[in-house]
Amino acid sequence: MKRLAILTSGGDAPGMNAAIRAIVRTGLDRGWEIFGVRDGYAGLISGDSLQLGPRDVGGIIQRGGTMLGSARCREFETEEGRRKAIAQMDRQGIEGLIVIGGNGSQTGAWELSRMGVPVVGVASTIDNDLYGSDITIGVNTAMDVALEAIDRLKVTASSHHRAFLVEVMGRNCGYLALMAGIAGGAEAIMIPERKTDPEKVAADLRAAYDKGKAHAIIVVAEGAQTSTEEMADFFRVHRERLGFELRVTKLGHVQRGGSPGSFDRILGTLLGAAATERMAAGTYGVLMGMIKGETVATRYEEVVSGKKPLDMRLMELAEILAK
Ligand code: F6P
Repeated sequence: MKRLAILTSGGDAPGMNAAIRAIVRTGLDRGWEIFGVRDGYAGLISGDSLQLGPRDVGGIIQRGGTMLGSARCREFETEEGRRKAIAQMDRQGIEGLIVIGGNGSQTGAWELSRMGVPVVGVASTIDNDLYGSDITIGVNTAMDVALEAIDRLKVTASSHHRAFLVEVMGRNCGYLALMAGIAGGAEAIMIPERKTDPEKVAADLRAAYDKGKAHAIIVVAEGAQTSTEEMADFFRVHRERLGFELRVTKLGHVQRGGSPGSFDRILGTLLGAAATERMAAGTYGVLMGMIKGETVATRYEEVVSGKKPLDMRLMELAEILAK
């Protein structure tokens, strides 16, 4: 291996920069040339990359987002797009690629690997829905951002004896909602994995007020089966009967933009360094993740077919804790 490229793809996640920095510095230490590809697979197709030295990744470990830029690239989903990307890599003499990203990005990496490109993935998504890693880069920081918001909303909710629906990210996975709900002491949690009966949530909230609580927080995942809008409508229609008001706060991309906390800086660093190690060992076609506290390589075939279910026992625990 002489020349290695790195890209970040899909939704950005706090800690991606720590992974880039670790890959660059451990790669340079092995005597390789390192290239950063701009804007994910789009940059791989257009050949938009820059050579990185040790100082180019100085001062980025504490920064959120990704210094390389990221994108969701439709063209790369086609075989023609991937062939263009491989042709560009050949032209630039790039012999290996490290892909930092979540589900869609790693599926793209698997396709490249099936076409003969030496690829290693680094597990990164605030959704934490990627098979092959107990925890992915960015989740921890995103959760802390959500928690700060929940804590603040609780204060104003208490002043007005109101209920709040707090929508967090998670199109297909309720991990962030469930964990932020538990850590934030939410009265109810709504996730994509389970249908919620608005009547039951309303009854639980009513009971909470009757027991003397001054606030009620419902954490909703963006992809919850019962959506934020449905729930808000229900509360509007039944406002008189329920006897309390509801307000809605959608946290959206605020959760992705935070400066990475210590956990995500370390996770990014360890997974980045482990990815260059795999490259050096010639173990391609794998995703580097953290399993039971160790960096582990999982074959892409397993990653793309595997499902990472949410531990539904935690939903039951959350309900008990909300009493
Ligand atoms: O996959 C990460 C994620 O933040 C999801 O939680 C969310 O649904 C999606 O990305 C938003 O995507 P975009 O940044 O393209 O709007």
